[in-house]
Amino acid sequence: MSSSKPAFMEWLDQRLPVTNAYEKHLSKYYAPRNLNFWWVFGLLATLIFVNQILTGIWLTMSYVPSAEEAFRSVEYIMRDVQSGWLIRYMHSTGASAFFVVVYLHMFRGIMYGSYQKPRELIWIFGCLIYLLLMAEGFMGYVLPWGQMSYWGAQVIISLFGAIPVIGDGLAEWIRGDFLISGITLNRFFALHVIALPLVLALLVVLHILALHEVGSNNPDGIDIKKHKDEYGRPLDGIPFHPYYTLGKLPMIIIFLMVFTGVIFFFPEAGGYFLEYANFEPANTLKTPDNIHPVWYFGAYYAILRAVDFSLFFIDAKLLGVMLMGAAIALLFILPWLDRSPVRSWRYKGIYSKVAIVVFAISFAILSWLGIQPATALNNALAKLFSVLYFAFFLLMPFYTKYEKTKPVPERVPE
Ligand code: HEM
Repeated sequence: MSSSKPAFMEWLDQRLPVTNAYEKHLSKYYAPRNLNFWWVFGLLATLIFVNQILTGIWLTMSYVPSAEEAFRSVEYIMRDVQSGWLIRYMHSTGASAFFVVVYLHMFRGIMYGSYQKPRELIWIFGCLIYLLLMAEGFMGYVLPWGQMSYWGAQVIISLFGAIPVIGDGLAEWIRGDFLISGITLNRFFALHVIALPLVLALLVVLHILALHEVGSNNPDGIDIKKHKDEYGRPLDGIPFHPYYTLGKLPMIIIFLMVFTGVIFFFPEAGGYFLEYANFEPANTLKTPDNIHPVWYFGAYYAILRAVDFSLFFIDAKLLGVMLMGAAIALLFILPWLDRSPVRSWRYKGIYSKVAIVVFAISFAILSWLGIQPATALNNALAKLFSVLYFAFFLLMPFYTKYEKTKPVPERVPE
């Protein structure tokens, strides 16, 4: 059979399935034709991941990972390295943007039931990515060796000390020292720049391979593979490339406008993206007033702090750590908590709709509470919204099973 491919492509394809992969994942990957703007965040997360890797490589060229030099080397990047300030702000703003985008991406999954059968594995890979991303963000934050870097690490690593029997040994093993020191900084640097990004990249590949195996969900939660034409193409699907690659361009441009706007005019974002206490070098003898993590860990930190009581033989600190762990672990089993016969909240009943809205509000308020001072009022609010956070997951098997759902159309509505 004659082929219209250039000779070089023919040669390459016989040795590496380039055209095959291009067709399978782009030009012949049929995505539902009704995807809305919520489906852009996976692509944006990929874009930010690339930004973090590239700016990270350039930062590493001038950053010095030692307790004596780290803070000064960041100042050097900001003041003396050509365009160093831009690269650093791209990286620090990128970290917060990554979490904004990933939170919206996860919320899309929750709204439209993208975690449900047969997409459980895509969701699990996503949860692993999220876990790793948190470790990556935490370790990155320690690197500038400012006040919040040091004291934040102190608080978070000491949480491991709450684990009975092995806790103290584990915390010491993580620090590599009896206290947080240059040794801790060195290992966090190695993990932040090499180990975690490598595993993250691998997980993102697996995430997308799993997605392309079963196909994308859509706002109606319809299975588009049920209705195909005589060539086996889904009737309600369109090739990902060029329709979605070009179709998503306006959203990407809007994102880049906001992203660069923050970098040029608002890089500290009022102390949320870069905290003011971190403009002071780490001082082991001076504790900052309000030690708190960056905004994207706020919700879990609020849950941890909300626990100021012990239960049976479990003391408050351990109980807080356990609940914080449970808050993240519950995400992993979401596909098995949802018993609804439909995927999308468009067709779910009123309980699910209310639960999703209350969950989103609770998560946002907890994120805010986590970075506020621990006053009595804030603590009471944190308790209330922590209960609502857990109720969303723990009551899900009941409200999704017993509520009245709407019938899902066979084909994507016009
Ligand atoms: C580095 C972080 C991540 C990257 C680069 C990424 C990338 C992507 C991409 C490119 C897609 C296809 C386009 C789209 O549906 O938006 C996707 C789909 C998906 N992602 Fe992620 N993702 C990340 C994190 C996560 C996390 C943390 C979760 C959940 C815990 C998650 C859950 C999903 C699900 C369920 C789908 C399938 C959506 C559907 O078909 O409706 N992802 N991801």
